[in-house]
Amino acid sequence: MSDWIPVKQARMAESVGPNCEIRGWVRTRRDSKGGFSFLEINDGSSLGNVQVVAPGELSNYASEVQKLTVGCSVVVRGELQSSPAKGQATELHANEIRVLGWADPEHYPLQKKRHSFEKLREWAHLRTRTNTLGAVMRVRDQISQSIHQFFHENGFFYVNTPIITASDCEGAGEMFRVTTLDLERLAKSGGPVNFSFDFFDKPTFLTVSGQLEAETYATSLGRVYTFGPTFRAENSNTSRHLAEFWMVEPEASFFDLSDNMQLAEKFLKQVFGDVLEHCGEDMEFFDLRIEKGKIDQIRGVIDKPFQHMTYTDAIKVLETCGESFDYQIQWGSDLQAEHERFLTEKHVGGPLILTDYPSTIKPFYMRVSDDGKTVAAMDVLVPGVGEIIGGSQREERLDVLQRRMAEQSLSDDDYWWYTDLRKYGTVPHAGFGLGLERAVQYVTGMANIRDVIPFPRTPGSAEF
Ligand code: 4AD
Repeated sequence: MSDWIPVKQARMAESVGPNCEIRGWVRTRRDSKGGFSFLEINDGSSLGNVQVVAPGELSNYASEVQKLTVGCSVVVRGELQSSPAKGQATELHANEIRVLGWADPEHYPLQKKRHSFEKLREWAHLRTRTNTLGAVMRVRDQISQSIHQFFHENGFFYVNTPIITASDCEGAGEMFRVTTLDLERLAKSGGPVNFSFDFFDKPTFLTVSGQLEAETYATSLGRVYTFGPTFRAENSNTSRHLAEFWMVEPEASFFDLSDNMQLAEKFLKQVFGDVLEHCGEDMEFFDLRIEKGKIDQIRGVIDKPFQHMTYTDAIKVLETCGESFDYQIQWGSDLQAEHERFLTEKHVGGPLILTDYPSTIKPFYMRVSDDGKTVAAMDVLVPGVGEIIGGSQREERLDVLQRRMAEQSLSDDDYWWYTDLRKYGTVPHAGFGLGLERAVQYVTGMANIRDVIPFPRTPGSAEF
């Protein structure tokens, strides 16, 4: 590697010196009457740019420098000096500017300063060159790094659970099928599908969650987490649903619901704290441009204990609050986004952990409580997004688990390996899943989940 430095470093006062090289893309060019030009260069390492002063004496000044437009890629060498200008510590006085690639202003889509986020989705391959999407992706990276660090520090082993699976963890039947069968030929023949001719000899799907496999590792390694892409074929065209999203799922033996809630709270607070500490410039941008007061809001979340409420109490609040909802709510029905957001935004004004949901609306693996009607479930709700974490204590009693499986028409033959965990050395255990994109959405204040993942997959949309 030759001795060039990232723009982030070149913006620091301590980097000033005679031989500095940066490499990046032109954000703006302004020609001065004095026969020189200012260029703003960004290389993605930080939100801010470095200002380059390009003197008219450069051999390619008229032939190239004065033709630079937004998006051109350049290598700039020169003396990095302290800057007299406000808002920047340094500026690079160029003695050489090499153009690596031109960006025809007639056709380059990001010429215009401002495009709507919706429009930018059409250029998902270019949109991270904008301030907002670049900042989102740096924060997303920080959150991913913090997730690994938190679990590593707390004794959790990282396991890689499979993407292709034969079991439907959430039991919702919203799975993408994986097959090598020739669908066109099958459609023409009109015959029944024989999965013994399929690649895996049985029906298989993309996973909706790595939890069941993580449980197998929790009951041997103790504390584990899986972190990978998950897939849901639900037809939800909302601002908080993706068909492909990333989920981190810790699973811990000897944990009950209370341990699980404590873990989730400590985890979120550490991850949010890391973002404030390491992404200061990006977070100031979100605070200013995307959601006013975001930084103080997150500081408040870190400082205060999370509120807790049972599902039953939440229903009472929703029934008597006088708010008009699109969906009627009563004990036994699933909470809709509007209910979750009312509870977290208006009722408690911060994160809320809802517990003890009716067993009828939760998956088979959640532990049935002594009342026989509810399960040891926990959802963490946050303002602006709603549910960010879903988790539970798991059913460790074989007979109860088998009864719940039968109620949900799940066959012992398909889940024999899962019930084995209850046959041999069963232990209380618990875990949860955090949707990475929902976490990024919450931290940045971005309104639509499609703008916090590089290439969003949603119904009818998988362009890139
Ligand atoms: O509540 P969910 O469905 O829980 C599970 O999948 C459990 N197996 C997790 C566990 O206990 N190990 O999903 C967990 C989280 C949600 O709270 C949400 O943040 C995110 O995953 N999520 C989605 N994010 C984006 N798009 C979707 N369609 C999502 N569905 C769930």
